[in-house]
Amino acid sequence: MTVPNNMPCKDNGIIGSAVSSAHPSLALIKYWGKQDGTRNIPATPSLAVTLDGLTTKTRVDINRPVDGRKEPDRVFLEGILQKEDRFAPFFAGFRKLTDTMKPGMGRFIVTAHSSSDFPTAAGLASSASGFAALSCACAAAAGLELSAEELSAMARIGSASASRSIYGGFTRLDAGSHIAEPLYGENWWPDFRIIVLELEKGPKNLSSRQAMERTRLNSPYYQAWIDDSELLMDRSLDALRGRDLDALGPLIRNSYLRMFATMFAADPPIIYWKPISLAIIQLCDTMRSEGFSVWETMDAGPQVKLFCLKNDVKAIRNRLIGELNDLNIRICRPGGPSSVQNRNET
Ligand code: DP6
Repeated sequence: MTVPNNMPCKDNGIIGSAVSSAHPSLALIKYWGKQDGTRNIPATPSLAVTLDGLTTKTRVDINRPVDGRKEPDRVFLEGILQKEDRFAPFFAGFRKLTDTMKPGMGRFIVTAHSSSDFPTAAGLASSASGFAALSCACAAAAGLELSAEELSAMARIGSASASRSIYGGFTRLDAGSHIAEPLYGENWWPDFRIIVLELEKGPKNLSSRQAMERTRLNSPYYQAWIDDSELLMDRSLDALRGRDLDALGPLIRNSYLRMFATMFAADPPIIYWKPISLAIIQLCDTMRSEGFSVWETMDAGPQVKLFCLKNDVKAIRNRLIGELNDLNIRICRPGGPSSVQNRNET
């Protein structure tokens, strides 16, 4: 990953710098739809696991404006400058916090460099790890001592799934809530595995945010999806509490397929699936009929992720390699929380 790690020498223009990292949060029960577009509050509850095998690293530098000039905050993903409007609400939230907690800090400009060891904007939850890492790095660079809850609320403004990535292990984000909650730590279900299949590296044409809004506005199934989601969440929490994959799996499957059903019914329809995605869905079905407890899920992109238990990983992996060509397979466990590696505050 190409994030500059050396901290700058202290100088008058620099307020602080920090490097942090975070893992994606993969939903077992999906968040899809917002209650309120401006504050980014989810309309459905979600239940997720933080993935240890994939990481986003972000470096933030906070500077005083040169000669008092008004300059924009800048975010570079893999070295490419991103559009300001995607990050503006997040930075507005961050400024509100610094105004309250460090009123003497004055005006500042944020520059962030972020890099991930997996494809971004391709349905692998890079916005979750991205905004979680950005939140931690911004807070550390500004010298704000924030609780995990405060970081979660800050990350949610950028991306609701990022509020879950602040914590390790299994997490929940309730409908209408502005913070995610940790449920069980990363070591709580030692045999739980997530197989991430990277099928396409390119970025998707339609962001999850745009797709979600289109679904809300014109899918006739949207209200049914919202109504059903609480029930799915309650049943999943029970199954997770019992570490019962045979009970959890069908609920995981219901959640992602019902989410996609609302997208297919939107106008124009939203179709992230590729032929290879469907081939894997069907292969999972075959493996289940042979006795494996393996359950697939998908997000806003063509990638497929599978949940299974440790003892089945080898057989499932061999089966995938045997039946489908050119698969990039990563085996993940529940991962740890976001963290700060390096900090320098003047
Ligand atoms: C399908 O969190 O990326 O991955 O809040 O608009 O940034 P915004 O959306 P985002 O959406 C994630 C949607 C999902 C399901 C999930 O992670 O719960």
